[in-house]
Amino acid sequence: MANKAPLRITVIGTGYLGATHAAAMAELGFEVLGLDISPEKIALLERGETPMYEPGLDELLRRHVAGHPDSSGRLRFTTSYEEVGEFGDVHFICVNTPQKHGEYACDMSYVDSAIDALAVHLKRRALVVGKSTVPVGSAQRLAVRLAELAPAGQEAELAWNPEFLREGFAVKDTLHPDRVVVGVRSESAEKTLREVYATPLAEGSPFIVTDFPTAELVKTSANSFLATKISFINAMAEVCEAADGDVVKLAEAIGHDDRIGKKFLRSGIGFGGGCLPKDIRAFMARAGELGASEALTFLREVDSINMRRRAHMVELTREAVGGTLLGTRIGVLGATFKPDSDDVRDSPALNVAGQLHLQGAQVTVYDPKGMDNARAIFPTLRYAPSAHEAARGADVLLHLTEWREFQELDPAALGEVVAVRRVLDGRNTLDPAMWRKENWHFRALGRPTA
Ligand code: UDX
Repeated sequence: MANKAPLRITVIGTGYLGATHAAAMAELGFEVLGLDISPEKIALLERGETPMYEPGLDELLRRHVAGHPDSSGRLRFTTSYEEVGEFGDVHFICVNTPQKHGEYACDMSYVDSAIDALAVHLKRRALVVGKSTVPVGSAQRLAVRLAELAPAGQEAELAWNPEFLREGFAVKDTLHPDRVVVGVRSESAEKTLREVYATPLAEGSPFIVTDFPTAELVKTSANSFLATKISFINAMAEVCEAADGDVVKLAEAIGHDDRIGKKFLRSGIGFGGGCLPKDIRAFMARAGELGASEALTFLREVDSINMRRRAHMVELTREAVGGTLLGTRIGVLGATFKPDSDDVRDSPALNVAGQLHLQGAQVTVYDPKGMDNARAIFPTLRYAPSAHEAARGADVLLHLTEWREFQELDPAALGEVVAVRRVLDGRNTLDPAMWRKENWHFRALGRPTA
């Protein structure tokens, strides 16, 4: 048989997932065309810049975006579905699936529009691969839609390939995935995806082939498990607080059991971000539609334990300043939902800062990367250019996102600028002994008070 030309790949939607996936596909050696409906985003990406802070992603883009000095030239961008349809053999759908307004369910409108817009331009054999996190049953529905709309008919096939990348590690997670899961309906779809992921598979990433519903469920169940693990340890933190135990020691001790494992047992003000909160809610909503809501009632508890953490942090702060927040000055360290990201979507840190502000405190926030995004969502908070400036004059200092920079702060120097040496650790990553040594009143969630 004649040598086949290498696969040509398109990536639809260039947000977190799509921008990273497109750059990674170019890194793996494919010719890639990325599409976004926003010309501004495309212009930015063409300059080798990203709309978000993600370590290593700008460099990866510049290594491949056409027109950059010394780039491979394998990565280009467009706003035209027609161009994408003509160019690609494999089309990855990477648009977002946010929570619907006023409902738990997931908003599928971006995925639906992407499939519709792409399908009409599929005139030859092509594999459309969904990566977005969707309610189980979506792939089945979209496969029918695709075959109906595509001029190529059944030759336009669908597969589902969930994505597990973490913000802050997006490049590494995409280039070296800990597993590749594909929901497929034909051997040829499986073969194509093996070709796409040949490099990570050769490095040893496991390749798991399933049907559509299982592939969709792998993603939502993985995120539900992670959320449950975090809420479990936060529930233990509540009990520790009541019993004067130490949840950090407890997590360390139970984590030594391999079956439990150390990861995702960091207690604090809980999980946030663009994925875990909305994914567990969409999962509950979908289970309800399928008549299986009882199976997921525990996720309701996982969600409420998580939301309780934010309220608890606000209460501890009120207590710390003597019972009323009115007119008190609060320094807040951290605004993003986790370190090494500038993402403030459903961020516990920003949520706590906002609640304190709305209850009459004067809140000054500092975050190493999340300031612009935080300001856009919460313009009425004050923002300071450094941890020291956020702490200046504060009656209490709150540690709400565990950036390394905050662990390296010098409590003695910081003590010079605050009004009162009082700190609340909402992430359990500051060293209590270090702060207490400098005469700080130190309190953390789920840890002994002295
Ligand atoms: C998550 C999943 O990890 C990833 O596999 C999926 O593809 C997308 O959703 P991400 O949203 O980037 O990734 O964040 P993650 O690292 O999972 O953290 C989520 C939240 O949980 C953060 O707010 C983090 O601070 C919090 N968290 C995490 C804890 O409170 N304790 C922990 O032990 C771990």
